[in-house]
Amino acid sequence: MIDYTEKIPNNVDLGRDRVLQRALEHWQPAYMNWWYDMGPSESHALEVYLRTATSVEPDGWAQFGYVRMPEYRWGIFLQPRDASRQVNFGVHKGQPAWQEVPGEYRSTLRRVIVTQGDTEPASVEQQRLLGMCCPSLYDLRNIFQVNVEEGRHLWAMVYLLHRYFGRDGREEAEALLERRSGDADNPRILGAFNEPTPDWLAFYMFTFFTDRDGKFQLCALAESGFDPLARTCRFMLTEEAHHMFVGETGISRILQRTCEVMKEHKVENASDVRALGVIDLQTMQKYLNFHFSVTIDLFGSDASSNAASYYTTGLKGRYEETKIADDHELQNAEYPVLEVSGNRIITRQVSALTALNERLRDDYIAEIQGGVDRWNKIMEQAGISFRLTLPHKGFHRAIGNFAGHFVSPAGEVLSKEAWENNRDKWMPSAADQKFVQSLMTGRVIEPGKFANWIAPPIRGVNRQPLNFEYVRFN
Ligand SMILES: [Fe+2]
Ligand SMILES: [Fe+2]
Repeated sequence: MIDYTEKIPNNVDLGRDRVLQRALEHWQPAYMNWWYDMGPSESHALEVYLRTATSVEPDGWAQFGYVRMPEYRWGIFLQPRDASRQVNFGVHKGQPAWQEVPGEYRSTLRRVIVTQGDTEPASVEQQRLLGMCCPSLYDLRNIFQVNVEEGRHLWAMVYLLHRYFGRDGREEAEALLERRSGDADNPRILGAFNEPTPDWLAFYMFTFFTDRDGKFQLCALAESGFDPLARTCRFMLTEEAHHMFVGETGISRILQRTCEVMKEHKVENASDVRALGVIDLQTMQKYLNFHFSVTIDLFGSDASSNAASYYTTGLKGRYEETKIADDHELQNAEYPVLEVSGNRIITRQVSALTALNERLRDDYIAEIQGGVDRWNKIMEQAGISFRLTLPHKGFHRAIGNFAGHFVSPAGEVLSKEAWENNRDKWMPSAADQKFVQSLMTGRVIEPGKFANWIAPPIRGVNRQPLNFEYVRFN
């Protein structure tokens, strides 16, 4: 169970390590300052129906109740230790999992933790204005839930930095509160986390695509030989599931609503659909193309010696490493990667170790495809022929083998000019974004009411009705 009588709720027996406790209690007010500055805009006085972790057991870990977000009990929760756990891959395979950081991997591991940690406050910053134009109280509550949990994920990484990395770790923990998403001088570390999330369509796309990148990174780190990292990532994954649910169902509800309106008014083309105040399916495809392409860049280069060394040294595994039937060393294995040759895309077999980013990206894409198939069922059931598709892996890439090439969503290699001429057909144009944002100019906060462009969800939060007062404005 989690001890909520402590200033910092935790299940790591923080009270027994006075120095660490003091260091984290010192960081806590800096975190609160960051939350007041960069957390959801004009939200501090609201009472929000939030879930809070009460235990790390898989069943019944969450308790629901009204909380003012600045009073949310952010804390440190790790999955319980399994004393028999081993390093399951790489050159240390079979050794007991590490409870302290191996000296030779210290700086690499610190970089991995800082990079993960940096994404957590970044997404809160990206989303901070969206509460001002929410489509319902239900959605407002959901975005706030996502935001407080991203804040907690930051706590999770900061605990590791303070507990295991001494002074360097404390400095990194401070820097995590100083970088800002999209800031010209001191941006967040990864590209997608500096992109704006200007509207709710972008938010749902982000939580579907980019939070799922988070899931796959956490899954790979949950295999780590460094046991405290593995255990903290396992618990973060239980929270991440909700973020992806918000994204997938958010897009489903928009599609649902658009299809309803298209059927009811017997309209097909985009401008007629827009005139009825819902988002046309072509625009949905463009947002999908954008979010998919910037998110798959987050997995890194197709061929990466860093990825190989993270694996060989036991720091970062593959997705579901222990379920894979092979030698878990990969010294002689190969893996296919794509590359551009002339004006064609070809497949080349490369060392499986250097291709580990690509492999994780492929695992991710397979899961994404499942979600897109579920979305397409909505159009199918409505008798509408439009289908969403994932663009080619090479489309609009800034990292890896496709960087610097101009690949269409269908996978043709084009000239820069030909590609640029089609850009607004493939990705949200300024006019598309303006249209989407024109639908989201104010808050819909009457209990049970939903904006015209989105269908209500199938059920409420924690079995509450749809007209439940998920956020109290008082
Ligand atoms: Fe997160
Ligand atoms: Fe998340």
